[in-house]
Amino acid sequence: MKIINVCGARPNFMKIAPLMRAFAARPPIEARLVHTGQHYDETMSQAFFDDLHLPRPDINLEVGSASHAVQTALIMQRFEPVLEREHPDAVLVVGDVNSTIACALVAIKLGIPTIHVEAGLRSFDRSMPEEINRLLTDAISELLFVTEPSGVQNLRNEGIAPCRIHLVGNVMIDTLRAHQRLAERSTILRDLGLSSGGYGVLTLHRPANVDEPRVFARICDALVEIQRDLPLVFPVHPRTRGNLERNGLLKRLHDLPGLRLTEPLGYLDFLKLMSSAAIVLTDSGGIQEETTVLGVPCLTLRENTERPITIEQGTNQLVGTDPQRILAGYQRARSATFTPRIPDLWDGHAAERIADIIVRWHAART
Ligand code: UD1
Repeated sequence: MKIINVCGARPNFMKIAPLMRAFAARPPIEARLVHTGQHYDETMSQAFFDDLHLPRPDINLEVGSASHAVQTALIMQRFEPVLEREHPDAVLVVGDVNSTIACALVAIKLGIPTIHVEAGLRSFDRSMPEEINRLLTDAISELLFVTEPSGVQNLRNEGIAPCRIHLVGNVMIDTLRAHQRLAERSTILRDLGLSSGGYGVLTLHRPANVDEPRVFARICDALVEIQRDLPLVFPVHPRTRGNLERNGLLKRLHDLPGLRLTEPLGYLDFLKLMSSAAIVLTDSGGIQEETTVLGVPCLTLRENTERPITIEQGTNQLVGTDPQRILAGYQRARSATFTPRIPDLWDGHAAERIADIIVRWHAART
């Protein structure tokens, strides 16, 4: 059985890594890796291949950055001949980035079944590009692998046949578990002059937060207060850096003595940084899940989350972008004594479950 596995952007790499390993351990499966090239900087792509020991992609579509329509179209245009040449039995896509929907759409038009890993998550906010990517990818996928019960319910509500939906746990947590010990060896705390538990971590890259100077300025107001109480480290995503420079906000951040800006970090350094932090402030989806498993308090600077289990069982609080709400969330998190629960099936073995289901599914079809 030949599967073409697709990755393209930073959050895809930690999801595809355990799947490639699980496929390699199951001889009926021949797994090929396609990198779309959506992310291409050393720090956004190659560093993750190195840290996660991902095999070199068999094919790189090298699409690079562009508007949503151009990027999606270019991926489709370059992916179609790959499928025509390779004749795979299935295409596997992960997450919710432009590469995910682009490749799923090409596959279904050629009659090739698509497998979606991390299906069913919904923020119910259609202004997020990822929400559109999730809805459309799920609607055309044959097998849907889900991380949390809310995802199963969402898919059922959308009329997807229950036999296509599989609650299997979280492949990103497989990668976290597999690398926790290795990450302990990272020198990042020493390099940045930090002590365990003595700092917070900040990440921001969502268009709604970083493309709109008024919104970002309000977030800055909260950061000014928090960095007086706790030093903050901010690994800056390239699109965030570009926007902050354009809007003249980078200087305001540079002038805060308690806020340290860094380049984007590799997987192991970031895992170490997050694990030892007193708190994480973020607008990322994946980091809400990782902090839940690590037991590190997380403030999500958004009005919604497609990962509600991180609030119900984990360490996550939704605080939006109003400075007063962010500060109130910060105070709550710093004084909390709540013990988080690790969601069911977030046990480090999701990729193995997925691979076994795929093998059975393929056997039943042939
Ligand atoms: C993408 C995903 C988002 C994910 C995020 C993680 C979509 C719609 N969005 O957003 O869901 O959370 O990746 O990072 O797919 N850039 C570089 N170097 C790179 C990559 C990007 O400089 O290697 C810059 C470019 O200016 C580019 C911008 O970042 O235009 C945005 O990159 P893009 O992949 O379009 O979206 P992200 O914001 O990274």
